Amino acid sequence: MNQYLMAAPGTRQISGDDKIFGINKSAHDMSKIIGPENVVNATIGALLDDEGKLMVLPSIVEAYKSLSPSEIAEYAPIAGVPSFLTNVKTAVFGQYIPNGYIEAIATPGGTGAIHNTIQNYSLSKDTILTTDWFWGPYKTISDELGRNLQTFTMFDENKKLNISAFETETKALLKKQSHLVILFNAPAHNPTGFTPDDKEWDVLMDVLKKEAKNTEKKITLFVDAAYIDFAGDPDTSRKFFTKFSNLPENILVIVAFSMSKGYTLYGMRSGAMVCITPNKAIAEEFKTINMYSNRATWSNGTRPAMSILSRIFENTDLYKKVAQERADFKSVLDKRAQAFLESSKKCGLELCPYESGFFITIPCENAEAIGQELQKEAIFIVPIGKGLRFAVSAVSQDKCKIVPEKIASLIKNL
Ligand SMILES: Cc1ncc(COP(=O)(O)O)c(C=O)c1O
Repeated sequence: MNQYLMAAPGTRQISGDDKIFGINKSAHDMSKIIGPENVVNATIGALLDDEGKLMVLPSIVEAYKSLSPSEIAEYAPIAGVPSFLTNVKTAVFGQYIPNGYIEAIATPGGTGAIHNTIQNYSLSKDTILTTDWFWGPYKTISDELGRNLQTFTMFDENKKLNISAFETETKALLKKQSHLVILFNAPAHNPTGFTPDDKEWDVLMDVLKKEAKNTEKKITLFVDAAYIDFAGDPDTSRKFFTKFSNLPENILVIVAFSMSKGYTLYGMRSGAMVCITPNKAIAEEFKTINMYSNRATWSNGTRPAMSILSRIFENTDLYKKVAQERADFKSVLDKRAQAFLESSKKCGLELCPYESGFFITIPCENAEAIGQELQKEAIFIVPIGKGLRFAVSAVSQDKCKIVPEKIASLIKNL
């Protein structure tokens, strides 16, 4: 049956209601009946306190309240407020600024950066490459823009980054296409919590450099760093950015910055795309073409969020306050993840390699059926094809401790 009533047909595959929000609603419905203390709602990709309320950095709210009316309400320039565009480079790279031409463009969250990158650095009907565990909107955005999304197997048998699968798929696509966009979510990958180590980054970049020897090919590595502020040590977790220094000019790196998680401004829709290239003209083109796409889609970004970022990076006391509050939030997250990891180890529940971040993934067969069965035990978790995604960001430490045993026993018995 044709599901389009008025809308023009296209390459989009419209799948109806959002699955995660559907499971979340079921969890809330059950909470009303048996009480929230008896329900595990591990669906939401936001940091919630033990009572299920959103954790918002108090200093960010204070900074918002101190903005002048025009800092809140005025249109931002299409590319973003100039001070935001300067400060966002520090917010992304910290002290690890790669060598090359670096330019930034404001986007509505990391999502906007994904949209512009696919739109401008791949051709219509091209295939985009990502890991086989990936954030669902990668597919939605590719579909919407008339691109295919293909995956490579993310982990090898030692639970390390599967470089040989990455190399095989990269090579195969570059045989067919002149342009290749690779969406790579790191560090603290959603949904697994994986972070490549130093060597894995080196080998990944070596693969791309080898492919780039064919100068007719144009490779864009999109590093989705949405969770960087919850990925280990705030300083050293940024060290990998120096790997993007002095690349061949047909490798463009674009880093996605998001104010959703690290600044707890999920609903403000603010972020940026930041490019690194050895070629000045490519950096200039990056600004022009992505400003054009901003204009053609959402126009300007959110002014108050940009003003807040500038305030933070231009005021040492505020910066320190945000860093301390964030460290406190992160320690809540780390304790929950630790509890989940320890319990999983005890009961032999297999997990994808988790380092840090909002989610832990349990690879398993029959994920849908197990997800359904868990709901009968008041555990709401998201089946994602080859596994189950558990949001440690949204579940108390006590609950994180008890859930693995229940999942392990269902996997054994189903
Ligand atoms: C992997 C990943 N990338 C990017 C984003 C972008 O988020 P936003 O558009 O809110 O910045 C998210 C948010 O959940 C995410 O999980």
